[in-house]
Amino acid sequence: MRLFIAINLKEATRNALASLQKGLRQNATRGYFSDPENLHLTLAFLGECDPAEGSAVRTVLSALRFASFPLEINRLGRFRREGGEIWWAGIAESEPLHTLWRDLTKELRTAGFHLEARKFTPHITLAREVVTTEKERTVPPFGETVTQIELMKSERIEGKLTYTAIASIHR
Ligand code: 2AM
Repeated sequence: MRLFIAINLKEATRNALASLQKGLRQNATRGYFSDPENLHLTLAFLGECDPAEGSAVRTVLSALRFASFPLEINRLGRFRREGGEIWWAGIAESEPLHTLWRDLTKELRTAGFHLEARKFTPHITLAREVVTTEKERTVPPFGETVTQIELMKSERIEGKLTYTAIASIHR
């Protein structure tokens, strides 16, 4: 199964993100927009995992310490890619978020997972393969308090990309 660890967002936050998607869509000639119910912030992407790896991730998650913290979304940004841009909502600088990511990825590596060595650019992907004249910009800040992180399974069900939380830790 394909796994990742994410912060899933509350409905009000997803609705505000859906408004950003709407603006982007109006100015795009092309793009695949994430289903609003799938909007999330990835902390670690694990990829294809066997059952033993699945249980190793659960062990790491259950030992992870974090206190709830505020998450603020304050800009629209993009990653340039061949074939179109990835547009995302960016997260304001956050020490607790960075610490959570650092601790989680450290423990996953200790447990034997090979994670990408990329720098952490916390973002919520809104659309992929976008062609637009839109400019990267700040947006009026909004967000929520993060009280849980979840282990997510990603699969295609009848052609639809479906994410299911299979473990959670709450604070
Ligand atoms: P993205 O939104 O920047 O694409 C599920 O695929 C989640 O894992 C997505 O949020 C995706 O981030 C993230 N992810 C990170 N690295 C990935 C990779 N190499 N392949 C697929 N998804 C990845």
